Amino acid sequence: MKTRSSKPNNSRARVYSVRAFALVLALSLTAATSVSASALEAVDTASSFQVVVNKTRPLTPITYRPTDLVSVPKYNPYGRIVRKTVAKALVQLGDAMKADGQGTLIVQSGYRSYSSQTKIHDAKVRALGKIHGEKLAARPGYSEHQTGLAVDFAARGVSTLTESFANTKAGIWLAANAYRFGFVLRYPRGKTSITGYSFEPWHFRYVGVEIATAMHDQNIATLEEFNNLPAAPNYLN
Ligand code: DAL
Ligand code: ZN
Repeated sequence: MKTRSSKPNNSRARVYSVRAFALVLALSLTAATSVSASALEAVDTASSFQVVVNKTRPLTPITYRPTDLVSVPKYNPYGRIVRKTVAKALVQLGDAMKADGQGTLIVQSGYRSYSSQTKIHDAKVRALGKIHGEKLAARPGYSEHQTGLAVDFAARGVSTLTESFANTKAGIWLAANAYRFGFVLRYPRGKTSITGYSFEPWHFRYVGVEIATAMHDQNIATLEEFNNLPAAPNYLN
């Protein structure tokens, strides 16, 4: 028996349109509380905080240099420079790490120009051979360090740039907490076939708190997966 058929047709249509409106409203509210559309834009733009750079996604232009590089005001014994927003986030990160009793942060590496990345890449390839060397150092124009958004971390008295950094007090704290300040561990363990690089527990990439938190909460480990981009295990040539 169709009980609803007792309603006049126009009143039923009104009920349905109210329901449809409620559904659209609910969906838009859900979207608004996850990641905003603007935050998902610009994975191709070198100056975007969301740019994705990997072995198949070189920077445009290839010699890109950010215009807002500044020296990190604390935790910076080597005088490294990064983009202004990143410098501010780094200080907050270092202060939180210290307040948690997890040691004194050191910014080991920050922005690297096309020409300094050339030297780093060439030295790594000379030392380790092309296949292994290129799993640790990007070619110039393909490095996140050239965006001014990537940093290599160390901590006072703690050696870095080796996998063992992952087991140090600082490395453990950074892996668990960096997202709260907008940083993601860019080359996680077990993701070389996607990122193209070996596990680098010291290399973090600033993407902003919104994206870093979304990746953390959704348990998505790489920028490629988060942005539905193809895996980038190798250069195209
Ligand atoms: N170590 C990273 C992959 C770079 O050279 O940019
Ligand atoms: Zn790095």
